[in-house]
Amino acid sequence: MQIVAVNGGPRRGKISKTIMLLEAFLSGCQQGGAEVETINLREKDIKMCTGCYSCWIKTPGQCALKDDMKEILLTLDKADVEVWATPLYFFGPTALFKNFVDRTIPLAEPYIIEKDGLCTHPLRNKKAREIVFISVAGFCEVEHFQPMSQWLRFMEGRGLLQIRAEIYRPSSEFMSAPPLKEKVDEILAATQQAGREFVQTGDISEKTMQSICQDILPDKNTYIDLANNYWDWEIERSKKRKSARSEG
Ligand SMILES: Cc1cc2nc3c(=O)[nH]c(=O)nc-3n(C[C@H](O)[C@H](O)[C@H](O)COP(=O)(O)O)c2cc1C
Repeated sequence: MQIVAVNGGPRRGKISKTIMLLEAFLSGCQQGGAEVETINLREKDIKMCTGCYSCWIKTPGQCALKDDMKEILLTLDKADVEVWATPLYFFGPTALFKNFVDRTIPLAEPYIIEKDGLCTHPLRNKKAREIVFISVAGFCEVEHFQPMSQWLRFMEGRGLLQIRAEIYRPSSEFMSAPPLKEKVDEILAATQQAGREFVQTGDISEKTMQSICQDILPDKNTYIDLANNYWDWEIERSKKRKSARSEG
């Protein structure tokens, strides 16, 4: 199985919880026998769609913009499954990720058809791409992913993609808190297991899913108190650094 991951997070390295989860999932996929490749959108030159519709009229299937998106679409074309990863930004994907999705418009035809009672555009190659979706969010409730999940499911309903799995990890920023390391290791081991299961069985078990989105803190008040104390601490630390710089 050829897997191509698309990471729409702007952060680099282990500070990114998207990368933490994505790397764990992909290493599980590799253990299961898949070949994996990752495209980090932040490293690419991907201009915004200008809405010129050249890709529908003048040069069907080819975008008029000259940037890295052409190569990205060629890479994705080789994938059996795409892993889409983005942090939750204002209840949706990052702008970087949404921009990538917008730029896949050459894959669709201009013509309008009706599917399950609603209008859509058919795909040029008639085959919906298979997607595993991974996201992380700062808030502690999994419900925050609902608008984004609904967006994906709506695209699936219109025949634009096929969702193979959705992995959502709330309280993401606590994943770098040293006292929670044991739980975080469990979550990452479960995410790796999810990758293995996906490649080997085509599915991710309920038990593995529950382990990935298990509560990391005992209750919501603890989450709120710790998060607010963290921001106070960071703000104070920044003030102290600033005054140390101005004194020295
Ligand atoms: C601009 C911005 C918007 C965000 N919006 C949300 C949000 O709507 N809901 C939420 O739970 N977390 C939100 N967060 C928190 C991020 O989802 C969280 O910090 C996550 O770990 C970021 O992913 P990363 O660690 O891979 O960078 C937001 C963060 C930023 C910077």
